[in-house]
Parts: sequence; C-alpha cells; structure tokens
Amino acid sequence: MLIPREIGGCLDALEQAGYEAYLVGGCVRDALLGLTPHDFDICTSALPEQTQAVFSGCRLVENGKKHGTIGVVTGAGVVEITTYRTEGGYGDCRHPDWVEFVGDLREDLERRDFTINAMAWSPARGLQDPFGGREDLKNGVLRAVGDPSRRFREDSLRILRGVRFAVRFRLTVEEETWQAMVRQAGLMDALARERVYEELCRILPLVTAEDLCRFAPILAAAVPELGPMIGFDQHSPHHAYDLFTHTAHVVAAVPEELTLRWAALLHDTGKIPCFTRDENGRGHFYGHAPRGAQIAGEVLTRLRAPTALRERAVTLIAQHMTRLEPDRKLLRRALSRLGWEGVEQLLSLQEADMISKGTGEHDASDHFTRVREALSQLRQEEACFAVRDLAVNGRDLMALGLQGADIGLCQRLLLSQVLDENLPNEKDALLGYARTWAATRG
Ligand code: CTP
Repeated sequence: MLIPREIGGCLDALEQAGYEAYLVGGCVRDALLGLTPHDFDICTSALPEQTQAVFSGCRLVENGKKHGTIGVVTGAGVVEITTYRTEGGYGDCRHPDWVEFVGDLREDLERRDFTINAMAWSPARGLQDPFGGREDLKNGVLRAVGDPSRRFREDSLRILRGVRFAVRFRLTVEEETWQAMVRQAGLMDALARERVYEELCRILPLVTAEDLCRFAPILAAAVPELGPMIGFDQHSPHHAYDLFTHTAHVVAAVPEELTLRWAALLHDTGKIPCFTRDENGRGHFYGHAPRGAQIAGEVLTRLRAPTALRERAVTLIAQHMTRLEPDRKLLRRALSRLGWEGVEQLLSLQEADMISKGTGEHDASDHFTRVREALSQLRQEEACFAVRDLAVNGRDLMALGLQGADIGLCQRLLLSQVLDENLPNEKDALLGYARTWAATRG
C-alpha cells in the first residue's frame, strides 16, 4: 500500500516506541479497491497520553482526547491517531455514552459498522481482517460487523452510510444487514437533521434510478414525504412509471449537482396532495408545482439545508411545469428572473422530467435542442438581463432630473423594453426613452 511519508512517519514513531499502530477503516478499504484514500486514520495500542508523549515534539490537536483521538499536525495535514477502543450506550443514537480503551485491535475493529470498514493494515504486520472485509469487497457484498441490529442501534446514521457505500462501490447488501436496515430505518428520526442532510448530499450525486428504487424504503424513512410516492399509480397515459420510479429517473437524469438533485428528488412531492381523477378515471395533478415547492421548502428547512440551495430548489420546483420555450423574448424574461445558471438548471430539470416518463413519447422531440440553441445565441450577444447590465446607470437618469423611487422605476421600465427587444441596449436610445418618460412625470 502506498502511503504518504508523513503517515508512514507516524506509524514508525509509534512502533519504535513499542506500541502497535495500524492504518484503519476507509483508507484500507479504498486502497484494496485500488482507489487513492482521501484521508488516513491510524489506530494504536498507545493510550492518548502515550501518543502525546511519542509526538511531544509536534503540534497536537487534543479536543478528541476524551474519545481517544490525538491529532498530529504534519506537512500533510492533521493525522488522527485513536487508541483502540470499544464504545457503548448510544443514548442519542449519535455519540457513545462511554468509550473504553482496550489493548486489542480485534475489539476495536468489532465495534465498526461494516466488514469493508473493519480492516487494518500496517507495514510491519500487513492486513488484519478478522471479519472477512476483503472477501466481501471482492464479492461486492455490504455486511454489518456482527449483529446488524446492534450496529444500527449504536448509530442509526450507519443505515444511510450503508446506502452510500452500496451505491458508491456497487455492492449488494447481505440479507440480514438489509433486513435490519429496513426494520430499523425509523431510528433515524432521532438523528440530528443536519447529519441526515449531509449523508443524503453524499448519496444523491452517486445514484442511478435503480439505486433509488432499491433503497426507497430507507430514503422514505429519512424524508417521509417520499413514502406515499412509492408505488403510487399516476393513472396517466403519459406515465408508465409509478411516481417514485419516475422521480428516481429524473434524479438520475439531471447533472450530478446537489441543488438539481434535490430539486429533482422533491419536484413531484406536490402530486400526492393535488391528485384527482376525472370521470374517465384519468389522474390529474392541478397545482402540483407550487404545492411541491412549498413541501420542498418545508423538507429542506427541516433538514437545515443551506438557504441558497433551498431557495433555488424551491424556485426550480415551482417553475418546473412552466415550460421554457425557444423564444428569445420569453427566454430573456426567464434569464432576467433566474439568471443563466437558474435557466440552465430549469432546462435540465424539465428535460429530465420529460424523458423520465417511461413512455418514450418525447424521445424524438427536438424541443430542448432548440431552447439550447436560442440560449447560446443570446449568450453570444452578451445580452442584457438585469438592471445592472443596462447601458445607462442611476447617475445618468439623475442627470435627466429623475429622483428617488422614480430612478428605480425608470430602470425597470427600460429593462422591460430591452428584454422585449423594443429598445436596443444603447445609451442614446435608453436616454431618449427615459427623457420622454421623465417629461410625463412632470
Ligand atoms: N465508523 C463506524 N461507524 C460510523 C462512522 C464511522 O463504524 N457511524 C468507522 C468505520 O470503520 C469507518 C471509520 O470509522 O471506516 C472512519 O469513518 P469515516 O471517516 O466517516 O468514513 P470512511 O469509512 O473513512 O469513509 P469515507 O471517508 O469515504 O466516508
């Protein structure tokens, strides 16, 4: 295993002082998969005070000492060195109520979540793999260490971590582990919402539609609004899929960008409360876009998502049924409202929505190509979409005698004329129009 010099130095220093020291967890798993680990955790038989003594010549981070972790500041960043430990009594399903330092590596590995994360390696003693993690990796299996129910009771976030590892490394979940994940998914209610949000943010960019369908019951435990969508028949000739399967396809079809993935996941949540059927039995969802935007706002607020992400996702959902057209004036209006990024996101969402109905009816449409062509033409023209892009500014308008609120009013009027292509975005033309308008204001 190739390890950075600083990491090797920490392992050597502990071994030379007479302690055992191993790389452990994710870095061993990643190295066995041929991936470059993004961080290296060390576990050791040394007690925290002993680790401090070994690295007394270095800058140390000691705020994790109570749980056995000493951070050693090296040229390659902070290396976390944790004393072998067991833990227990997870009153809040998050932090262990107690940790107990132990002398044995196996006991330390035993308290970890999955076999693939419960391996250790040292240059001196090689791979330590008491639970068959290497074999599970080779066979593509995700398996809890020991009793799965106990592992998920200790920290129910492990259920979502399991989804992430299964998706990321394309693993099949071993049956007992899977049963416990589903059975105990409700324990996630006790987790801090931001932990759930962070884990979902790590999952969403990785998923395929099949992944989302496979893990639907767990995702629905994390975001209950998704629950009623699973298996929901839309009673529509335009939809071959149930509502959740359609949603899963939309998520996978938008670019792997978080805001879009969240918007896609929640875009049809309004369909459930807005569902009606006509006399022919056909399903309708009048008003589902604004209702979905409201629900998405509630979900993302509850999960403590950043305001910018929440607001953009809500806007995209509110507008996902208002189709962008290859019409310059309409596109200018949309660009003025949403900006370039917003319009491109909306277009991606609308396109993903369209191609994810499972009927194939829109496959031949060149609608989105035409919208993109019109947008690229507007981009080349460096067109004006906001007051700040106008060829006149507030000072120019004051020079015409306009004051106070009239200045803003005039700017918005000018922008509207430019967006509709009634006026070119040129100083003389705009000033001429503003002068006439100012005269009408007396
Ligand atoms: N671990 C655990 N239960 C958790 C979190 C972590 O058992 N709820 C253990 C696992 O052995 C894991 C190690 O602590 O490998 C380090 O955790 P973390 O850094 O969160 O994850 P990694 O496995 O390193 O994977 P990644 O960083 O890719 O998420």
